Amino acid sequence: MEKTDNILQVGVLGCGPIAQFAHLEACQKAPNVKLYAVCDQAENLAKKMGNFYGAEKVYTDYGEMLADPSLDAVIVATSDPFHLNAALQAILARKHVLVEKPLGTDLEEAIALGEEVTRSGLHMQVGHMKRFDPGIVSAKQFIRKDLGTIVAYKGWYADSTHRYDMTDSTQPLPHTSTISKKPSIDPKADLEKYYMLAHGSHLLDTARFLAGPISSIHARLKREGDMYCWFMDTVFESGANGHLDLTVAVRMDWHEGFHLYGTEGSVLGKIYNPWYFKTSEVTCFSAKQGEYRQVLDNKAHFFKNQLGAFAQSILTGDPNHGSNLDDGIASIKAMLAIHKSVVKGERIWLDTIKQGVL
Ligand SMILES: NC(=O)c1ccc[n+]([C@@H]2O[C@H](COP(=O)([O-])OP(=O)(O)OC[C@H]3O[C@@H](n4cnc5c(N)ncnc54)[C@H](O)[C@@H]3O)[C@@H](O)[C@H]2O)c1
Repeated sequence: MEKTDNILQVGVLGCGPIAQFAHLEACQKAPNVKLYAVCDQAENLAKKMGNFYGAEKVYTDYGEMLADPSLDAVIVATSDPFHLNAALQAILARKHVLVEKPLGTDLEEAIALGEEVTRSGLHMQVGHMKRFDPGIVSAKQFIRKDLGTIVAYKGWYADSTHRYDMTDSTQPLPHTSTISKKPSIDPKADLEKYYMLAHGSHLLDTARFLAGPISSIHARLKREGDMYCWFMDTVFESGANGHLDLTVAVRMDWHEGFHLYGTEGSVLGKIYNPWYFKTSEVTCFSAKQGEYRQVLDNKAHFFKNQLGAFAQSILTGDPNHGSNLDDGIASIKAMLAIHKSVVKGERIWLDTIKQGVL
């Protein structure tokens, strides 16, 4: 991969599965990025990944990596409860940050980080890489220009019982280490929380990206055996009707997508399991033209596209359509609202959510 002269020197914090499946390769492939450093408390993992991907520096201590003056930016690829603190440390060390989704688990800490980022003038982005799926980008462009007023948005995200059988065929098995840093509480100890953070954050970000901010949610959770199914009657700030469905796990193939009804057209999107790196199948119908349109775009390494846009913004000042801090905070509020709504059985307005830990 030929690299540009104007290049961002990136360090990846965490050499676990998401770094191995997505970010290290994204650093290799994005033309305006150099994988300058990797850091993992697990020295064996850090050395293995650093050597394989040709990082100039290998660290086991995050503070030492941040003190390196040649480092421009950090990708935070650690477990969810570590995101906010790792991002804050990077901002205080004057490094730009791309943090994995969800932005964090504590709303007040996320808001405080937001204030620090604003003060710093640094660039911070949340890793909702679906915003860089060429199919979803085509939907966004159509909605902006040709859909008219959004009347309704339906979004669904259903993980599949067959998912790991399928991804095991396409992904290499991740390298692991017995000395990796793990949160004190196993994130999978509470599956209701875990599924919302892991999957609900994507469902919400895609909905907000395409249909705008959410004002209120009335959520119901049905549990049956090992299945968790949230149906969420959602109202967008625009007044559009919304319905969101998060189900883990359906007895069928991966089932994710969206449907918008507008006054001038409609959009129907099928999103594939991300690890197929396949552009979503998005069909846009324009009432004016009386035609359906669909893009075919194979540049579907969402993580590379995301990182390239992140680097471009820092190097040239160009804005990008990635998920910013406000988007990350809005997702945390929405997830807290969903939980509150399930517990209380009531509609919850997001602007009433001021604090909470997921
Ligand atoms: N975008 C997506 O679709 C997607 C998919 C899967 C996972 N994720 C996200 O990726 C994140 C990471 O997932 P994972 O499964 O790779 O996590 P993991 O916990 O298995 O691996 C993280 C690694 O980071 C290291 N680490 C953590 N804190 C450190 C510190 N302070 N200093 C040095 N090393 C440190 C650990 O030792 C570990 O090896 C999660 O937030 C998850 O939600 C995103």
